[in-house]
Amino acid sequence: MLKPDYPLKTARLLLRPFEPADLDDFYAYRSRPDVFRYLYGESVTREECAELLDALVGDDELTAEGQRLALAVHLPEADRVIGSAVLKWRSENDRQGEIGYSLNPDFQGHGYATEAARAMLELGFRDLGLHRIVAECDPRNEPSWRVMERLGMRREAHFRELEIFKGEWGDLFVYAMLEEEYARAQA
Ligand SMILES: CC(C)(COP(=O)(O)OP(=O)(O)OC[C@H]1O[C@@H](n2cnc3c(N)ncnc32)[C@H](O)[C@@H]1OP(=O)(O)O)[C@@H](O)C(=O)NCCC(=O)NCCS
Repeated sequence: MLKPDYPLKTARLLLRPFEPADLDDFYAYRSRPDVFRYLYGESVTREECAELLDALVGDDELTAEGQRLALAVHLPEADRVIGSAVLKWRSENDRQGEIGYSLNPDFQGHGYATEAARAMLELGFRDLGLHRIVAECDPRNEPSWRVMERLGMRREAHFRELEIFKGEWGDLFVYAMLEEEYARAQA
């Protein structure tokens, strides 16, 4: 069970549940095909975006395995939401989780994704008590696996052609971190 006190604060960011007023900022990156190049799904219209946002609003806790917590990444300096960070609770019994992140391209290249993802690792290890957290991406998505490496996660697997992704064979990198590796990195 995880119910954080919001907003979560990092050096430059605030992480908090999405709100209806985030629609413009949410749409600004959810509508961009470049953001979806290596993500499942496609960019969406404003109406579809409003429906997606509705489903996220009120999403502020993890009460059972299988759930995901998707938080808005707010940059006070710009007074707007610049992306999202996700923690998925994969297994209660085995204490496994997964993180993910997306940023508006206008705000990439400043370390914000790494900063937000680090906060999600902290939620997973410190607050939810997870033993292992993974992150996955297409190997061609270098900005994504560079975030994982900056976080100190280890590349554990390169699955080759395990699925048809957007009309062609897709590979998958799996990165992971164990709780003791996280503790050592904090020390
Ligand atoms: C994956 C994604 C979030 C990475 O964004 P990003 O901006 O490259 O990542 P960060 O915010 O951590 O920024 C890191 C970059 O900022 C630079 N940087 C500048 N200031 C920095 C700082 N204070 N701290 C850390 N890095 C900093 C780093 O050098 C790095 O650039 P480099 O890779 O050229 O060396 C982004 O590409 C994205 O949203 N993609 C679309 C969605 C997606 O694919 N998500 C992942 C799904 S698996």
